Amino acid sequence: MVQLGQFPPARHVIAHISDTHFLGGGRPLYGTVDTDPTLGFALQLLERSNLSIEAIVFTGDLADLAEPEAYERLRSIVEPAAERMGARIVWVMGNHDERPAYSKGLFGHETTEPQDRVEMIGGLRIISLDSTVPGYHHGAILDSQLEWLRDVLAEPAADGSLLALHHPPLPSPVEIMAILELQQMDRLAEVIRGTDVRGILAGHLHHAMSGMFAGIPVSVAAATCYTIDPSAPVGSLLGVDGAQSINLVHVYDDQILHSIVPAVETRPVSGFPDSVLERLGQLTAEQRLEAFSNKASTFNLAEVESSSAPA
Ligand SMILES: [Fe+2]
Ligand SMILES: [Fe+2]
Repeated sequence: MVQLGQFPPARHVIAHISDTHFLGGGRPLYGTVDTDPTLGFALQLLERSNLSIEAIVFTGDLADLAEPEAYERLRSIVEPAAERMGARIVWVMGNHDERPAYSKGLFGHETTEPQDRVEMIGGLRIISLDSTVPGYHHGAILDSQLEWLRDVLAEPAADGSLLALHHPPLPSPVEIMAILELQQMDRLAEVIRGTDVRGILAGHLHHAMSGMFAGIPVSVAAATCYTIDPSAPVGSLLGVDGAQSINLVHVYDDQILHSIVPAVETRPVSGFPDSVLERLGQLTAEQRLEAFSNKASTFNLAEVESSSAPA
């Protein structure tokens, strides 16, 4: 592949999906939201992309009421797609999940212990940290978990680490969600600051959001079930059936990109097939700039033409 710009291809590409909220028996969420097709569609988009996706990270609230059948159905949808893509699956606990059903349903071993795991994707370490509090919706991390995390991070990974947890260590633009935030974030900051953690992946808020925590970029993926509108009138909480999305995470040597992919049907209005890039790849850098960047190129004039007023 010809390098077209200043960056070589990403070292790792992973997908970040959150808040699937499956109910048992395929029941619609709130009696109206069909959760499965949106996730299925998102996975289809990932497959269609032909990207070498090495892992799919699910940042919690996998099942809405932690019903065993919900985890079973989730696996039956995700596992075949992940296998076809050659991608590993990284599960993370959310407040709607319950440790016994989650551990039994996804790992075949029922336990009430925190669900913390490490997955190595080549040189990239993905740490799945359980930020849930049994019986509650807010988040917290136990001393014993912080100790575990400190131990894990003592040895840096070749390509660095991504920390995946459900409750984002950030304020929320939706005021009421502050009640359900991760408590004592400063204790987590103290453990991860200055380590090889290069990015934090989270969910819980049901709208895409980004911020910084302990000097580390945080990316919150929206949800595939329903989303929360952060522009709703102050003081209110508004969940809507629309704007569902997932994220693509491109990990470069010095950068990490988080790109939002709509997981709903969209109407194509412009673009071209990959054969165009193939042709551009055969040109010199200078010819490429003339062919694709010059506003007066045949290519760009055709674009202008397509938007012109009819004669
Ligand atoms: Fe959720
Ligand atoms: Fe949540």
